[in-house]
Amino acid sequence: MLTASLTLDPAFTVGPVRPRTFGSFVEHLGRCVYTGIYDPEHPTADEDGFRQDVLDLVKEMGVTTVRYPGGNFVSNYQWQDGIGPVGDRPRRLDLAWHCTEPNLVGLNEFMRWCKKAGVEPMMAINLGTAGVREALDLLEYCNVPSGTYWSDLRRSHGVEEPYRIKLWCLGNEMDGPWQTGHKTAHEYGRLAAEAGRAMLQLDPSIELVACGSSGSGMPTFGAWENTVLTEAYDQVDMISAHAYYWPKDGDMDSFLASAVSMDRFIDDVVATADAVRAAEKKDKRIQVSFDEWNVWYLGLDETKNPEGDDWPVAPRLLEDIYNVADAVVVGNLLISLLRHTDRVYAASQAQLVNVIAPIFTEPHAEGGRAWRQTTFHPFALTAAHAKGDVLQVAVKAPTHETKEFGEVPLLDAVATHDATTGEVALFVVNRSLDADASLDVDLRGFGEGLGVVEALTLHSAEWTWKATAADATSVVPVANDSAQVSGGHLTVQLPPVSWTMIRLAA
Ligand code: AHR
Repeated sequence: MLTASLTLDPAFTVGPVRPRTFGSFVEHLGRCVYTGIYDPEHPTADEDGFRQDVLDLVKEMGVTTVRYPGGNFVSNYQWQDGIGPVGDRPRRLDLAWHCTEPNLVGLNEFMRWCKKAGVEPMMAINLGTAGVREALDLLEYCNVPSGTYWSDLRRSHGVEEPYRIKLWCLGNEMDGPWQTGHKTAHEYGRLAAEAGRAMLQLDPSIELVACGSSGSGMPTFGAWENTVLTEAYDQVDMISAHAYYWPKDGDMDSFLASAVSMDRFIDDVVATADAVRAAEKKDKRIQVSFDEWNVWYLGLDETKNPEGDDWPVAPRLLEDIYNVADAVVVGNLLISLLRHTDRVYAASQAQLVNVIAPIFTEPHAEGGRAWRQTTFHPFALTAAHAKGDVLQVAVKAPTHETKEFGEVPLLDAVATHDATTGEVALFVVNRSLDADASLDVDLRGFGEGLGVVEALTLHSAEWTWKATAADATSVVPVANDSAQVSGGHLTVQLPPVSWTMIRLAA
């Protein structure tokens, strides 16, 4: 049995819980759009062809923002192909995923879907094969009320009011050699600054995210951020970070500690951004948009693109099926994002449906079911109950040695406090593969009277368990009856490979 402790005190906060931390991502990739969110022949499809069963799950998950339309896809995407009468739209080759894009869903369809899902769009522009001109045209189409070519074209497409989209990504992963139109840091930094400058001339109310590194393991990581921000500091508000985690060579101890890697990545991006701030004598601080993060079993056969003359429409790509350990890691990554709420201003789990996603669907022709993957649960519960301010949490826990990250604590946690309702939410993971843990939480800083409202643990004796269409509910978060408060202390037992949420209130 491991023993661990931490202290919660409402006086020591990191910053507010930011709704944009609970963002997601819809890319024209595999079956994320087609047969994911959109399947006009599905029994639940609405008048726009959107699956109501998926919309219901998206709402239940508490997703706040959705990044669109890519991802690697965006770097060869002509946004104009996706507007106007559907019958007139061209079919195009998608170079990123070696597919055919039918353009049945484009900007206006996506914006209608956002409205139905109650999410804020995070729009990415193409800075691979396109540039400043196309970005300005898109922004004019979206955000100018009327009286100009692109705004009137939008109105002629039946959208009278401008969308006034606030959040814009200046391209995607331009540091990656796989990216269509891949650039050096200097080339990209200049282009991001030029595009940003022009877009802000058109609409100064927008917020801009520059591409950071597509992983902390990239050879250019650090230098890339430095150069890009030196070029584009005045134009951008955030710099992106992307990271995917999986058990490399089956090393579960390191995999379960993936949040350590995310912590270090964020700290390094922040340090680099602040170093540019100092060198450039700037007042504003650049924040982090962690706009792609998840577990992704990179390297599996399913992740291979079609080849040769095979350019299919919406094939099965990146359809990872997640087990309980993956969900524990996802829960821990959310703990890391919340812990950095002072500098992480936005985040997007990649992706939302079917493609490395918490929601999985069958196409209408194959049964049409939709269900929650294991990773759905920690996201939905954290989004629902992390409210108010993030509290500073220092866990005292036993450590163990991992191959990838050295010595790491076996428990990790974050907590939030909503001063308006008095509610405290604690999110904690036990990363041990085999040991139960006993956690003691000192709550005396809250005075008398806090009690357990709800304690839920996601765990299975078989952490390899995965949800399927036939059985998506055998392993879900269940009540943890060990959680109790006495004498100003909460105590709770945490099984190995588990994620737990405990809500406390007077
Ligand atoms: O999310 C899948 C892909 O991962 C995205 O298209 C790309 O940006 C990243 O490499």
